[in-house]
Amino acid sequence: MDNRPIGIFDSGIGGLTLATAIIRVLPNERLVYFGDTAHLPYGDKSVESIKDYSFRIAQFLKDQGCKAMLIACNTASSIAFESVSIRYDIPIYNVIDPVTDWVTKFYAGKKVGVIGTKGTIGTKVYEHRLLASDPSMIVVEKATTLLASMIEEGFHNDTISEAVIQAYLEDTQFVNLDAIIPACTHYPLISDQIHTFFEGKVDVVDAPKIVADFIKTDLENKALLATSSDSNHKFFVSDKTIAFEKATKIFFGEELHLEEHRFSVQ
Ligand code: DGL
Repeated sequence: MDNRPIGIFDSGIGGLTLATAIIRVLPNERLVYFGDTAHLPYGDKSVESIKDYSFRIAQFLKDQGCKAMLIACNTASSIAFESVSIRYDIPIYNVIDPVTDWVTKFYAGKKVGVIGTKGTIGTKVYEHRLLASDPSMIVVEKATTLLASMIEEGFHNDTISEAVIQAYLEDTQFVNLDAIIPACTHYPLISDQIHTFFEGKVDVVDAPKIVADFIKTDLENKALLATSSDSNHKFFVSDKTIAFEKATKIFFGEELHLEEHRFSVQ
């Protein structure tokens, strides 16, 4: 049993969707969250930059005494997970493997769509993982660049988000899908709208829940679960503004107090 916190990091505050899922599944755990708002968005940054940012944040979370770490950002999980995880002897999780394992279990031989940032889709990591486990699956992917900033601006469950979702998903490659993976921290907020767009005929994968369940099982197996309930979570960002603090309500359900930690320029 281990009462040290779990570290979570993302390019910004969108990863709070993962923090919410973890708190729901693991209410005894304490979180230290880091949102790299100074470098947001990661979706169109270079591989070198994303690795560099991820190394610094991972070290910050390690220095905070975290017992495990989740790279909540899909883009950073796609690009920096291997390089980060070999540096530490604590469990490091990404948001991709638990989801692709789950999807191959329940959608064997089916047609699955993946939407995410340019960075995530550019790596084809979802396609590679899914087809490696199940070569009979059909996987179609699309970068839906505008969706993250649209949601961050507060446009979800309204007519504007409906029009943008339609513009991206009205695409012949998505015909006859069985399931779609919303491969971005922000997309859980538009899951219902995606479901409605496909007239309820396509399952929208609940990625945060799958990742949170996976972490619970893994910490349990490693005897690393916390014993005492301590909800004294900490939320850090690399560039604090009132707008970011207000936007935490979109992703966390309540407005959070953010602490600023700036990395020195190298
Ligand atoms: N957090 C990013 C992801 O999940 C989306 C926002 C960004 O581009 O930084 O890929």
